Amino acid sequence: MKILVTGASGLLGRAVFSELSCCGHNVVGTAWSRTGEGLIKVNMMEPAEIAACVARVQPDCVVHCAATRKPDVCEHDPEQTERLNVDAARHVATAAAEAQAWMIHISTDYVFDGTNPPYAPDAAPNPLNAYGQSKLESERVVCEVSADFCILRVPILYGQVESLDESPVTVIAADLLAGKHGPIDNWATRYPTHTVDVAVVIRQLIDHKTKDPAFSGICHWSGDEPFTKFGMAQIFCDILDIPKDTITPQDTPPPGAPRPKNSHLDCTRLESLNIGRQTPFAQGATEAIRPFVGGE
Ligand SMILES: NC(=O)c1ccc[n+]([C@@H]2O[C@H](COP(=O)([O-])OP(=O)(O)OC[C@H]3O[C@@H](n4cnc5c(N)ncnc54)[C@H](OP(=O)(O)O)[C@@H]3O)[C@@H](O)[C@H]2O)c1
Repeated sequence: MKILVTGASGLLGRAVFSELSCCGHNVVGTAWSRTGEGLIKVNMMEPAEIAACVARVQPDCVVHCAATRKPDVCEHDPEQTERLNVDAARHVATAAAEAQAWMIHISTDYVFDGTNPPYAPDAAPNPLNAYGQSKLESERVVCEVSADFCILRVPILYGQVESLDESPVTVIAADLLAGKHGPIDNWATRYPTHTVDVAVVIRQLIDHKTKDPAFSGICHWSGDEPFTKFGMAQIFCDILDIPKDTITPQDTPPPGAPRPKNSHLDCTRLESLNIGRQTPFAQGATEAIRPFVGGE
């Protein structure tokens, strides 16, 4: 199958590109500032560039990973956030529909307010910050183009990183290695999710769609181990051989854009289709930081 992956230079897009390529699909990836080998440069803020790319590639499926995803950045730049997260999603969806391609649009657990977990795909969203609002709006515009498309919501991601500050999980290890030991958020519960697990889920979703053409709508995928960022830091302390009593928890909400306290995603829709993979966090975290730890 010919598959177009937008944002293929990003944290998730790289894993998706690799997983789909390795499994025999003909994959074309887009990037913006990091156009490495085999990636096409497409500015997602230029509708004509999106339309031209999709028309040229003529994919059977589009996996839309490109986005701006840092809540504090989105909070301070709503205009750019709207263009990249909402308008681009609409243009990608429109171009995909014109090419008669199926679309998987990546969204986030931040569409929920975190007061009533776990959240099923049909639970009422109530985003607390500009990032979550933009992603919820992106879901709406994608579904407006075609009810046949799929929205895949995922929570906090980590995996193979180009630098430790690329993921909101591995940045915790970066801080510990830099001697910054706290205070570390111990208020919000997160379910760190490996990018390769999400990539496998996307591959399985594409396989499933070929067997069940009626499949569409909102799906959730998530790791199954709850941690606060302080809890993740304790795991990194074990991995890095840093005494745990040197790190300090912060039990009040973190500064910056408001975040949900616990936006745990209910994954039973995909589990019931035998779709899913969950890397144990300690294993995934060890592998993710290994290239950055001295002597290895
Ligand atoms: N990371 C998380 O913890 C997390 C959690 C939940 C949901 N998500 C969702 O998962 C998806 C992927 O996120 P990610 O973590 O992989 O993000 P990321 O690492 O920041 O990657 C963003 C991608 O978007 C591309 N991009 C940015 N601006 C662009 C522009 N103007 N034109 C074209 N491409 C542009 C980037 O290209 P260049 O790098 O080449 O410039 C990069 O490939 C997003 O929908 C995000 O909302 C992420």
